[in-house]
Amino acid sequence: MALIKVILGSTRPNRFGIQPAEWVMEQTKQIPDHTFELIDLAKVNLPLLDEPVPPMMQQYTNDHTKEWSRQINEADGFLFIAAEYNHSIPAALKNAIDYLFVEWNYKPASFLSYGSLAGGARSVEHLRTVCGELRMYDLREQLLMPDYYNHLDEEGLHAFEDSHVQQIQKILLQTAFWADKLKVIRKELQEQNEPT
Ligand SMILES: Cc1cc2nc3c(=O)[nH]c(=O)nc-3n(C[C@H](O)[C@H](O)[C@H](O)COP(=O)(O)O)c2cc1C
Repeated sequence: MALIKVILGSTRPNRFGIQPAEWVMEQTKQIPDHTFELIDLAKVNLPLLDEPVPPMMQQYTNDHTKEWSRQINEADGFLFIAAEYNHSIPAALKNAIDYLFVEWNYKPASFLSYGSLAGGARSVEHLRTVCGELRMYDLREQLLMPDYYNHLDEEGLHAFEDSHVQQIQKILLQTAFWADKLKVIRKELQEQNEPT
């Protein structure tokens, strides 16, 4: 059974990102036969990349890197919850990605983004490029939430709509499908002693 990790990429106090992250985790209950876990980068709390050797070598010196490596290595796929900061990826998310290499390889990546007019589209375009370098396979489908702040109630809670549910269900199913398929391929690569 594939394990898919939902990675919340914004870490600041009062971040909106926790709302779509928790909503996505509720939505994952509709997907049978797969396990979904939330990784909140605010809790992971990685310092700025502080390993002396490039991650491709996997010669980690710090306990926080070894634990981060363990968490990503065991995953079969990812759904990134991505804010847009200055038309790009939040620095905390890029930093967390940069810590590792092999652990991301040959796994699917999907996206939920939010922001102002562009709904985080520019952030995810950058994120897709980063994923490619890490041998992640980015899925076409993406849930964009433009002007999310115009859809908050008096308590600041976002009203998710039926269209959001339909989109995220499709994304979760696609991510689960490819997580299963690529899990088999990763095993074949390991058996052939191919670099993974
Ligand atoms: C440093 C910073 C830069 C931002 N740049 C953009 C941007 O380029 N495009 C955009 O749509 N929203 C931008 N915003 C607004 C964010 O979309 C909005 O604040 C959102 O809530 C950020 O996600 P978070 O609350 O999970 O941190 C920016 C916000 C911050 C804090």
